[in-house]
Amino acid sequence: MPYDRTNGRAILFLCLGNICRSPLAEGAARAAFARAGIDATLDSAGTGDWHVGCPPDPRAQAEAQRRGADISGLRARQLTSDDFGRFDLILAADQTNLRDARRVAPAAGTARLCLMLDLVAGRAGESVADPYYGDDDGFTATWDDVSAVAAALVADAVASSG
Ligand code: 4NP
Repeated sequence: MPYDRTNGRAILFLCLGNICRSPLAEGAARAAFARAGIDATLDSAGTGDWHVGCPPDPRAQAEAQRRGADISGLRARQLTSDDFGRFDLILAADQTNLRDARRVAPAAGTARLCLMLDLVAGRAGESVADPYYGDDDGFTATWDDVSAVAAALVADAVASSG
């Protein structure tokens, strides 16, 4: 897939499996950028390879649907070292994802790497909790967290384009 870097807004959302948190983050960001009428290149990946090629977890799809976003067409993929040259910003869901991503990052990688919630006022350093082993409520909390991240990204894009 070609990546348009001209707008400086190529953003990759990262979690462990790429079937729960990062596809929800991609879905929330796609919806938020579309609502704002701002172009952005958005994608998601996992540090692990167990679910490569799989659609998002059915519970994540259901939560997205409930919030007005369709993530059923997304397919999991694993983070690669190339991603550090293709994206401006790589946003990890938790500290483990951040540590694992640093191991994959090439010396010449240009992407900025931080936690998703570092972008949300008052929540720097916090993780987006992994809902995979929990009940459906966890997915509601995940959507709330990643929506706050998406809103912060759009606010930043509006500020820098205005
Ligand atoms: P995610 O959730 O990292 O938010 O996609 C998980 C998905 C799968 C597994 C763990 C977390 N797993 O162990 O298979």
